[in-house]
Amino acid sequence: MTSPLPPDWTDRLALDRAHVWHPFTQMKVHEADPPVPVVGGEGCDLLLANGERLLDGISSWWTCLHGHGHPRLVSALERQAAKLDHVMFAGFTHEPGLELVMRLRPKLPPNLTRAFFSDDGSTAVEVALKMAFQAQLQRGNQRGNSARDRFGALRGGYHGDTLGAVGVGELENFMTGLFSPLLLACERLEVPEDPRREIRPDLSEWPQRLEAARRSMQAFFSSHGERLAAFIAEPLIQCAGGMRMWPPELLQELRRQCDTHGVYLILDEVATGFGRTGSFLASEQAGVAPDLLCLSKGLTGGTLPLSLTWATEELYGHFWGEPASGRAFLHGHSYTANPAACAVACASLALFDEEPVLAQAARLNQTMTEAMTALADHPGIRQARVLGTIGACRLVDPSTGQAHAPESRFGWRLHRRALDQGLLARPIGDCLYLMPPLSTPPARILEAADTLGRLLSEQHT
Ligand SMILES: Cc1ncc(COP(=O)(O)O)c(C=O)c1O
Repeated sequence: MTSPLPPDWTDRLALDRAHVWHPFTQMKVHEADPPVPVVGGEGCDLLLANGERLLDGISSWWTCLHGHGHPRLVSALERQAAKLDHVMFAGFTHEPGLELVMRLRPKLPPNLTRAFFSDDGSTAVEVALKMAFQAQLQRGNQRGNSARDRFGALRGGYHGDTLGAVGVGELENFMTGLFSPLLLACERLEVPEDPRREIRPDLSEWPQRLEAARRSMQAFFSSHGERLAAFIAEPLIQCAGGMRMWPPELLQELRRQCDTHGVYLILDEVATGFGRTGSFLASEQAGVAPDLLCLSKGLTGGTLPLSLTWATEELYGHFWGEPASGRAFLHGHSYTANPAACAVACASLALFDEEPVLAQAARLNQTMTEAMTALADHPGIRQARVLGTIGACRLVDPSTGQAHAPESRFGWRLHRRALDQGLLARPIGDCLYLMPPLSTPPARILEAADTLGRLLSEQHT
C-alpha cells in the first residue's frame, strides 16, 4: 500500500480503531499498521480503497476458489436471495439445500450418506465431535465401565476456535494451553512430515522413519484406543499448524487402527477440500474414507459461510428411534442450511462439473512447484515443499539457519512489505506459504515468488 487513501477512509479507519475488534489480532498492532481497506474483489485480486490491487495469495484464509466475484456465484446469490432468503431448517427443507446434497454426494466416498448443515469450519468440527461421542454412547460401545469419553488428534493440528475444536487442536500451545481447564480430553499423536513433498528432499532413512511412525501409531492405539470416541485429523496437510505435509501411508494406517479399535475417524477437510491438494478431497489420495467428514471454506467457493458434516449410515443409525427414546442429535444453528449460501455452493460445484477446475488445480501445481523451486535455495528459506496447489517453506535467519526470534516479527514485517508490492502473503509463524485461488494465472504465481525472494533478500540486509 503505497498510494494515499481517499479522505473518507480517514474517518472509517478512526471508526475501526475506536470500535472494532479484529480476529486473531493483537489490536495494538493496528496503532502502527491499520487494517487494509478493501473495496472490491476481481478474479484473484483484492481491490483496495487507494486504487491498488493485491494478489490474494492465500485465498482470503483459504476460502476463495474460483476467484473473487465469479459471475456464476454472484448471480446464484442474487437469484436465491430474491426467492427465499432464509428459513429455519428444523422441520423445513428447501431446494438449494437438497440440490447441494445431490451435487456433492457423488464426489464423496460412497459410505458418506448423511449431510448435517452448519455455518463454518469450527462448527462442522463441533458437530462431528458431538456426533461421534453420542453415537458411541448409543451404540453401547463401551468397554467395562470406562466410557469413550476422549478424542485422539494429531500433534500440531488445528480444527477451529470454538471450545470443542480448540480441545482437539494444538497450535503451539498458545490456544490449547490458555484454555486447557475448559477443554475436551484429548490424546495426541505425532506424525512426521513427508520429505517426498520437498523440492530438495533428504530421503535417507525415510523408509525406516515411516515404519517407526507406523509402529508408534499402533502403540498409541494399543494404549488409548478403547477410550477414544473418535480420532480427528486434517488429511495429508496440517494447514494452520504450518503447512505440515504428512504421509498418506500413515492416514491409511490411521484408518486401520480406528477400525480395529472401534474408533470413529473424523477427517477435517475444511481447508483441504475442493481441489486444494490436487484431488477433490485430500483423503482420496490415500484411498481413505472417514466416518465423519467436515467441509467448509471452499464449499461456497469462498462467497458465504456454510459447512457440512457428512456421516455414514452406520453412525446415523445410532440416532434413529422413537421421539421419546432420547436418541436424536439435538444440535442446530439459526442459519443452518441458509438457502442463499446453499445456492452459491451449488453454483461452485457446478463449476467443478462444467469447467476444468481440477485441471486448473493440476496446472497450478506445476506453477507452484516452479515457484517453490525458484525460492528453495534462497539462504533465508528451508524446506520448500508443495502439495497440490499449496506451496510452503520455512523462514530462517540466514546467519544461523534457525527460525527468526519471535520478537523480530519477521513474518509480519514480510507480510506488510509484500502488501506494498501488491501481494497478500501472511506467514503462519515461520511458515511462508501461497494458497491462491485455483484460477490464478501462472504468471501471477511466479511474480509472487519473485516478489517474496526479493523482499527476503532486502529484509535480511
Ligand atoms: C482444518 C481446519 N479446520 C477447521 C477450521 C475452522 O474453520 P472456521 O475458521 O471456518 O471456523 C480451519 C480454519 O482455518 C481449518 O483450517
